[in-house]
Amino acid sequence: SADAVFRKLPKIVGHRGACGLAPENTLASIRKAAETGASFVEIDVTVTKDDVAVIQHDSDVRRCTDGSGPILLKTLEEVRKLDAGRWFAPEFAGERIPTLKEATDTLRSLDLGLNLEIKPTVGWQIPTAQQVAKELLADWPAKLPLLISSFAVECLIEVHRHIPALPLGYLTSAVPPDWQTRMADYGCASLHCERHYLTAADARAIKDAGYYLLVYTVNDPEEARRLLDWGADAIITDFPDRMFETLNL
Ligand code: G3P
Ligand code: MG
Repeated sequence: SADAVFRKLPKIVGHRGACGLAPENTLASIRKAAETGASFVEIDVTVTKDDVAVIQHDSDVRRCTDGSGPILLKTLEEVRKLDAGRWFAPEFAGERIPTLKEATDTLRSLDLGLNLEIKPTVGWQIPTAQQVAKELLADWPAKLPLLISSFAVECLIEVHRHIPALPLGYLTSAVPPDWQTRMADYGCASLHCERHYLTAADARAIKDAGYYLLVYTVNDPEEARRLLDWGADAIITDFPDRMFETLNL
């Protein structure tokens, strides 16, 4: 149930694995997060041309690999040839864009919880969410906490249609004035907002309304402390190591 997932949500969640310490959204990044002591990570998922769910943030592979072009127009075989580590640092050369299946296997072996952010190519919201839901139903280990989020509300609705038991996070930059209506309409249990836009008053209202609150991307431990004091349940950070070293959690 949703409560069981949020009971296991720690205060620190690694962003794209631990993307300050390793190339984002790779297995190395997930392992790095675990090494810092994180028990929960956020990663982004999208689909390839041949409909395989893969872990990638951008719709174009240019920024985070040695290739270029839209991931939705590449087959898994083409995606597998890309180096997804060297751009970050030479020691990560050879890292690949993982499939959701590989990421799940790694999370299982490390006993990590997951905030899976569905990142569809615009226009591909429904097929992306359908494929992700299908793979999660086939593969996701029941013992691990899983929280789905997306900026694309259509993805949340589609995932819910396939897996009604999964908790949903409403992902946004600014907290919209009608957040309460949206949370109810989309059946979301948590709100995930960008750090600049959150006010103490919003944080209190969100908590008073009974929702969980996650804030991204917070890399300054002092800011993290303030947000946690405001009532944030978790902060999503590129540098979980810093947070564990500085904050008394
Ligand atoms: O899920 C929180 C955060 O990852 C949302 O923004 O662009 O980093 O995926 P982005
Ligand atoms: Mg993300």
